[in-house]
Amino acid sequence: MTTARKLSWDWYPGVIPENVVVDESAYIETTFSFSFFRSRLPGGVEYGRGASTYLGTMFDVGPRGRVKLGECALVHGARIICDSEIFIGDYALISWNVVLMDTYRISTNIMARRQELELVPTRELRLACADVPAKPIRIERNVWIGFDAIVLPGVSIGEGSVVGAKSVVTENVPPFTVVAGNPARIIRQLDPQEKKHHG
Ligand SMILES: CC(C)(COP(=O)(O)OP(=O)(O)OC[C@H]1O[C@@H](n2cnc3c(N)ncnc32)[C@H](O)[C@@H]1OP(=O)(O)O)[C@@H](O)C(=O)NCCC(=O)NCCS
Repeated sequence: MTTARKLSWDWYPGVIPENVVVDESAYIETTFSFSFFRSRLPGGVEYGRGASTYLGTMFDVGPRGRVKLGECALVHGARIICDSEIFIGDYALISWNVVLMDTYRISTNIMARRQELELVPTRELRLACADVPAKPIRIERNVWIGFDAIVLPGVSIGEGSVVGAKSVVTENVPPFTVVAGNPARIIRQLDPQEKKHHG
């Protein structure tokens, strides 16, 4: 699928960064997704077997950030803001305009925020990316996150759970649970036995 880490179908004249590991059966719609990618770690993004990312997905990954996409994980246009680690499990489905952020990148302190904004024009990539604490996000296998949902730093979403559209997930979600709203609350439980039939 690639020549010199370019995609033959890409409308954007970019390349897949050297430290992005892509399984041969994975799919990347466009390298525009890596415009803000600046991880220096090996495997800064890892695509598992059959994983895919589509137009609108942006890897806003800082120098010490790492993102892992499991088998057949599908990200249909999410902003992934990562300064530590974001794990997206096998068969996870992430819908349009979802934001996964393991860091706020901005201080709540007014003067620190002003200093950060003053630095933005000095950067090659004109981003606000203050070094504030980051807390990893884990999205376990078979999770479905509806469009426009937001997952905040440190949150884990348990296996098989569903996050409703436009929800703001501030706390861990147990396995096989549907949550919705802002802040996201449990609206019902799912049957864990379904897993036996589908793996
Ligand atoms: C989460 C979802 C799957 C729940 O569907 P459901 O189990 O049929 O839930 P219901 O419609 O029976 O709603 C149950 C309750 O949750 C509330 N609710 C459902 N979805 C909600 C949402 N996204 N935000 C806030 N509240 C929501 C309902 O208002 C209802 O509240 P009530 O009991 O006080 O009346 C669905 O609402 C949803 O958001 N789907 C996302 C679709 C999507 O993103 N598609 C993109 C393609 S990948």
